[in-house]
Order: sequence, then structure tokens, then C-alpha cells
Amino acid sequence: METKIVKVKTEDAAVLSAAGAVIAGGGLVAFPTETVYGLGGDALNRESSEKIYAAKGRPSDNPLIVHISKTESAEKIAVDIPEEFYLLAETFWPGPLTMILKKNETVPRETTGGLDTVAIRMPDHPVALAFIEAAGGYVAAPSANVSGRPSPTLARHVIEDMNGRIDMILDGGDVGIGVESTIVDLTGEVPTILRPGYVTEEMLKRVLGKVDTDRAIMSPDSGQAPKAPGMKYRHYAPKGSLFLVEGSPEEVCGLMKQNLAEVKKTKAGCKTGVMASDELLALLGELPDADVKKSLGSQNDSGEIARRLYRVLREFDEEEVEVIYGESYSGDGFGQAVMNRLMKAAGYCIINKTKK
Ligand code: TXA
Ligand code: MG
Repeated sequence: METKIVKVKTEDAAVLSAAGAVIAGGGLVAFPTETVYGLGGDALNRESSEKIYAAKGRPSDNPLIVHISKTESAEKIAVDIPEEFYLLAETFWPGPLTMILKKNETVPRETTGGLDTVAIRMPDHPVALAFIEAAGGYVAAPSANVSGRPSPTLARHVIEDMNGRIDMILDGGDVGIGVESTIVDLTGEVPTILRPGYVTEEMLKRVLGKVDTDRAIMSPDSGQAPKAPGMKYRHYAPKGSLFLVEGSPEEVCGLMKQNLAEVKKTKAGCKTGVMASDELLALLGELPDADVKKSLGSQNDSGEIARRLYRVLREFDEEEVEVIYGESYSGDGFGQAVMNRLMKAAGYCIINKTKK
């Protein structure tokens, strides 16, 4: 299949209506959002959803998020909509928050991975909103990466993964946030975060009072399956092996140096890398056993770390780095979302003073 790649601004009405027509005709279009690029299809057309799973190589029990451009659109696809939905929509939409509601029969089960709930989000990106309008108002979209690879934060990443597999790619430049939306489930007793993101538990609590976080999110051995089916897969993974190193800056430095030296000694020719903050890289100094060193920005700027994370993971792939040591971050606020993605990229492999 030939993929049309088009640079787009909001005022490109002709491009947006052509992209909308592709969706209405059952085709697939990748588009920018404020979090990561999405791979869009008509959410109300089962065949479009099947095509999305095929293009990504994604297991079909992993449901898609339906993107809308107006809050009222939720009423056509969901039932028993609670008050909390409207409160959160008013505060955070358009924005990086996905809400789970009970679905009605308008939404095919192919879109929701067989579930009777539906995930809904209104993205905060002018191109995304205009595209959703042009497409008829309901665009199912997972992140536009091949399943298992880091989510795309640049149009170039989408082209790498999706060229030849979908009808069109809308190139809207770099995304702003860099990690996927927060997902909150509103179908239970207490609103529950199923995936951390830019909208934190604290921000949600300010609006709703009580909010829980699915305990399975941060640890593989909480004894529970995560409630968002996608969270159980090893996601966002680089091709090399990533290990996260925990401890005080001095301990992390020591452990990274020791592990790098050991890899170089035991695996001849193995390409090694380090992924860390500016501060830690300064402390690490020369580091002769690391072939590649990459910064995620300042330790104190989780926004910058989030924006760079997936791009840097892809760069390690491009440079064929086989073993990567990454700095671990504190899991507060938005930092929790970053740490959640890092833990998954590392397959929960942690090195610290007690676990070397
Ligand atoms: O920021 C984002 O949310 C991006 C952009 C493109 O909007 N989209 C995105 O989609 O991250 P995706 O498919 O990569 O991740 C969707 C996540 C999966 O973990 C999936 O299991 C969960 O949402 N999910 C979707 N519908 C659900 C439902 N009804 N119940 C529980 N989890 C659901
Ligand atoms: Mg994804």
C-alpha cells in the first residue's frame, strides 16, 4: 500500500477533509495529538478497527481509545454517564485525559477489544480536533507505533513504523507532552487511574475528591492483572536490554560503572549505552565503557524527560545499542507516568545496592 505523507497545519482545510474522507471510507490515517501520534480509523466501523490491529501487529484484546472533538459526542457512544465525567471534561478537555465509560451498542466490540466499556478522549491539538470533525466525530486511535515499540513523538517515527501499512500520515511536527494520556475508569465505585500520565492523581482529586490508582500499574508482582488490558504487555521497549539503576547519585554512578565494566569484560564487542539526566552524566564523567551516552535533560524537569524519552529509546535502537543502563526517577506527580513507562521499557529489570 502506498502511504500518502502530508505536512499539515490547522488551516489546511483541503488536507483535513481528504484525511476525513479516508476515515469515512474505512481507511487509516496517522495524526498528531498533544501526547503522542495516533493511528486513526472510524471507531464505529468494525472493519476499520480490525485494520488498526493488523497495521500495528497488536493483540485484538487490547482496546482502542475513541477520540472525539466535542464533549456531547460521548452521549452517542456511552450510557449511564456519571457526573464525574462532565466535571473532568470541563476541567481537562481538550487534554491528555482518557475516561472509561459503559459503552452502548453503537460501538463495535472490535473497537473495545471485546469489553462493554469504552475509552474516550478529546485531544488538545488543533490538527487532531479538526481531523476528528472532518472524519465524522469518532476516531479510534492507539499510538501510531508498531506494537511493542516506543510510541511515536515525531512524524519521522510514524513514517518508520507505518509507511506502507496505512493510507495517510498527517505530519504535524513534534508532539508537546511525549507520553500517553492518563486513563481514568469511571465505571466503578471510585474513579480509578489505570494508566498514569500528565494529569496526575492529585489533579484529579482536586476535582473529584476521592481517586484511586490501580495498584498493578507500578509493579509486576502486585498479584493483580492491570485493569487496562494494554498495561500488561511489555511495551515501549527498545531492542536492546534496558536496566534501571536505583540509589543515591553516587551509588548509581558506582553501579553503572561496575556493570558496564563487567559487560565489556564478559561480552566482547557488545555495544553499551547510558541514559541519564544532565546531572548524573556530569557526575559519571568520562565513562570509557559506555559507547553511547544520552541525556534526557535535567533531573528536575519531568516535562523534558517525558518529551525526550521515546525518541531517545528509538535512537538507541538506531545505533544498535545492546545493553543500556538507565537512571531511575522519583515517582511523584507526572514523574510517576515517566517512571511507569521506564519500568515497562525495562521489563521491570532493576539494579540497586541489594540487587546487582
Ligand atoms: O495519549 C494517548 O492516549 C494516545 C493518543 C494517540 O491519544 N493513545 C494511546 O492509545 O495511548 P493506546 O492504544 O496505545 O493505549 C490505550 C490504552 C491501552 O492500555 C488499553 O488497554 C487501554 O487504553 N484501554 C482502552 N480502552 C479501555 C477500556 N475500555 N478499559 C480499560 N482500558 C482500556
Ligand atoms: Mg500504545
